[in-house]
Amino acid sequence: MYKKKIPYSRQSISKLDIKEVVKTLKSDFLTSGPQVLKFEKEIQKYLKVKYAVCVNSATSALHISCMALGLRKKDEFWTSTNSFVASANCGEFCGAKLDLVDINLDDFNISLEQLEKKLINKKSPKIVIPVHLAGYPSDLKKISYLSKKHNFKIIEDASHAFGSEYMKSKIGSCKYSDIAVFSFHPVKIFTSGEGGVLVTNNKNYYEKALMLRNHGITRDKKRYYYKKNNSIYYEQQILGYNYRLSDLHAALGSSQLKKIHIFEKLRFKIKKRYDQKLNKLPLLFPKYKNTNFSNHLYIVLIDPTKTKKKRDSLIEFLNKKMITTSVHYIPIHKQPYYKKYNFLSKNFRNSNFYYNNAISLPIFPYLTTEKQNYIIKCIEKFFQK
Ligand SMILES: Cc1ncc(COP(=O)(O)O)c(C=O)c1O
Repeated sequence: MYKKKIPYSRQSISKLDIKEVVKTLKSDFLTSGPQVLKFEKEIQKYLKVKYAVCVNSATSALHISCMALGLRKKDEFWTSTNSFVASANCGEFCGAKLDLVDINLDDFNISLEQLEKKLINKKSPKIVIPVHLAGYPSDLKKISYLSKKHNFKIIEDASHAFGSEYMKSKIGSCKYSDIAVFSFHPVKIFTSGEGGVLVTNNKNYYEKALMLRNHGITRDKKRYYYKKNNSIYYEQQILGYNYRLSDLHAALGSSQLKKIHIFEKLRFKIKKRYDQKLNKLPLLFPKYKNTNFSNHLYIVLIDPTKTKKKRDSLIEFLNKKMITTSVHYIPIHKQPYYKKYNFLSKNFRNSNFYYNNAISLPIFPYLTTEKQNYIIKCIEKFFQK
């Protein structure tokens, strides 16, 4: 048994990462400066997208993405029942009304069948926010087709999906969406400590996001209301926020991005090993149709048709064995804050089934084979008990 708990995820920081942060610490800029610009350029190049705006979290990126797309009071926005609350909170910040769409049980992303049904039966929302759970891409081509037919915009919550591919392009190329958002929180694919980015091919959204990130201020002379030309002049034209990323965070993000191909390979190796070793147990596995995705999470469900053992007992059993697991996520419709929409009276059947039975097992690049074998053995023991 291990003395220190095995986390479900953790960052992988190298000596070089530390060197890069220290270098920035000794430089002229600590807040947004050359490192942020450099990091944004690297992200643009990697994703093959025109514009990137780095901010202090994916939550901030989602918020200003909603604002850049003009989400207001009385507008509606929709997202998947099964996500972190930030995918819903971003529209709430704008005073808009949330509705939720159930998931499918193949990949646990938004159900396109349910989405289409809802679009036929209800007035279209202004924005739909598909979430690429565990980094596995939602079917963006189909969502894009529906967006044209029913006139809504798309923000991809790609917080889990840096490096994932969809139809031979990186998630974040925005071929089938208006904006995509990534998180650089330490448990994600790579980290900047805290941080996030929104990417888009649309110049208007980009310029609006730049202003919203920094108090609604512009220093672009061409945009000024008043004709002032001295060098210290700037204008606040809209109400924005301080969502800036610091150069310290950007330096770490930039250094980490260089290793993404290594992180991807290591995660894939761990995923494959779980797949091979757990497949005789009474578990349900996602039916992913391809393997080119980030493997941010390793999710399995207890199969209630094959065992009477409960998911919660497995979580507690593993916890006693010093193994941290998680559930991604407690569905948004079960959160007390969202009681106001009366979601509990709706039948999100798949999401509820998932929530009762799913468990996320530890996966991160430097989870050792020895520790992974221990986790697998403990799960086997649980089912033998
Ligand atoms: C799906 C999803 N969306 C948004 C977020 C928010 O990310 P951040 O912590 O960078 O604000 C998270 C973070 O856990 C997430 O998992």
